[in-house]
Amino acid sequence: MNEEQRKQQERTVEETLSADKKSSQAKDYSQYFQMTYQPPSLSTAKKRGKEDVFVHYDFEIPDAMKGIGKGKKFLIRTYGCQMNEHDSENMAGILLEMGFESTSHQDDADVILLNTCAIRENAENKVFGEIGNLKVMKRDNPGLVVGVCGCMSQEESVVNRILQKHPHVDLIFGTHNIHRLPELIQNALFSKEMIVEVWSKEGDIIENMPRARKGQFQGWVNIMYGCDKFCTYCIVPFTRGKERSRRPEDVIEEVRHLARNGYQEITLLGQNVNAYGKDLVDTEYRLADLLDAIRTIGISRVRFTTSHPWDFEDELIDVIAKGGNMMEHIHLPVQSGNNEVLKIMNRKYTREEYVELAKQIRYKIPHATLTTDIIVGYPNETEEQFQDTLTLVEEMAFDAAYTYVYSAREGTPAAAMEDNVPQTVKKERLQRLNEVVNRLSNESNQRMLGQVVEVLVEGESKKNPDVLMGRTRTNKLVNFTGSASMIGKLIHVEITDAKSWSLNGTVVQQVEVT
Ligand code: 5AD
Ligand code: SF4
Repeated sequence: MNEEQRKQQERTVEETLSADKKSSQAKDYSQYFQMTYQPPSLSTAKKRGKEDVFVHYDFEIPDAMKGIGKGKKFLIRTYGCQMNEHDSENMAGILLEMGFESTSHQDDADVILLNTCAIRENAENKVFGEIGNLKVMKRDNPGLVVGVCGCMSQEESVVNRILQKHPHVDLIFGTHNIHRLPELIQNALFSKEMIVEVWSKEGDIIENMPRARKGQFQGWVNIMYGCDKFCTYCIVPFTRGKERSRRPEDVIEEVRHLARNGYQEITLLGQNVNAYGKDLVDTEYRLADLLDAIRTIGISRVRFTTSHPWDFEDELIDVIAKGGNMMEHIHLPVQSGNNEVLKIMNRKYTREEYVELAKQIRYKIPHATLTTDIIVGYPNETEEQFQDTLTLVEEMAFDAAYTYVYSAREGTPAAAMEDNVPQTVKKERLQRLNEVVNRLSNESNQRMLGQVVEVLVEGESKKNPDVLMGRTRTNKLVNFTGSASMIGKLIHVEITDAKSWSLNGTVVQQVEVT
């Protein structure tokens, strides 16, 4: 199918469904089954058109679909980043409005959706393992609907592999058509064919989807979607579309709504939040302005992720430096400490520029923690280039770092490069890097011994239900003994013990929230 045919098909499906939505009679959906084969195309996904992004405020679940989940249960398994976690909250919201109930036991589920991550090969392998496991379940329960969505669905190779090897999958849809879930689920429940509907487009913004938030006092708020940076190793600009910002008034209204409903902490989300506003043609409004507006809303804590050093403007540092509900934690992925590698990664900054930016942040926000992401074993990375990463990590003394071995992603420029670095060398570099990173995190945590810090209590510790866990303003994990009534509250904790990845403490007092 060529691109024009694909677009025509997309239009036909949209038109048919919207005409259908207008009619109030019961539907015969069999007419759609033949048309719901829209596989992804990475080359189409790569295009960045100049057309406006459409913001849709008219999302509606057709009445006829509201009851179809009655008596049925769903389970969504989420892989990958916070963006996926948040997308799963939207899907859950839609399914609940369709009458489904949520379950955490897969044996009870009538619909299982795997919301997938494509960032590295091991993330994909996990999902394929899970798809394989579900085959047995599907054999015992043929009525079960198995769906695959999220970033992996946007890849041709993944869809082809599922089509060829995993015919027990009933439904594949992508990151751009979550709002089509009612129709897609309806089709999947009644069709014998595998439904594939993946849009390889730049993306619109769908504003008013229902949402079942997992947290009662911590919430995600999308501020923008997509990424235009095209780092040469990264699949995200292909799977998530072009950079598109939500209207400031829509973001602010959502934050106000969360504040009214007792939320203590919000995290503003985007693949590249520093570019917020740059695509809004009618305004100069940027992330710093948005944060400045959110500062005045009665919500205790505001975080944002993820930042790109390229778009990190002075105004942004200044607004975070004002304190209040702006948390002193900046996650600033550096990826490599070597300028040649940064260049072929298309990161668009040098080591020196990164160091300068980090210095500015630490100067203006002295208590801020600085965390980062690093990739080792980029194609043809030399030992000397890797050493530059080690020295940068020492120089920056990061409070924590997420470290990864480079993973080739089909369709990205890096995947087409010859690579002379053996896997064993890459793994060994990761280990050496982790030793430095762990030592520095430990040192950063040791400096907190004896300090009394504000902690938002998140819940029971995973390892020991008698122990509570929470996070400091700087996003450090603290464990302490306390009562369940503290969950969701801000308390003061004195730090008594420090390890590389967490702190232990003793409760001093609860913080009065005004
Ligand atoms: N291989 C390894 N790590 C990657 N990341 C993104 N793409 C890849 C890849 N192909 C890492 C980057 C990014 C983080 C979310 O994942 O460090 O910041
Ligand atoms: Fe991927 Fe780079 Fe965009 Fe981050 S900024 S999502 S690493 S392309």
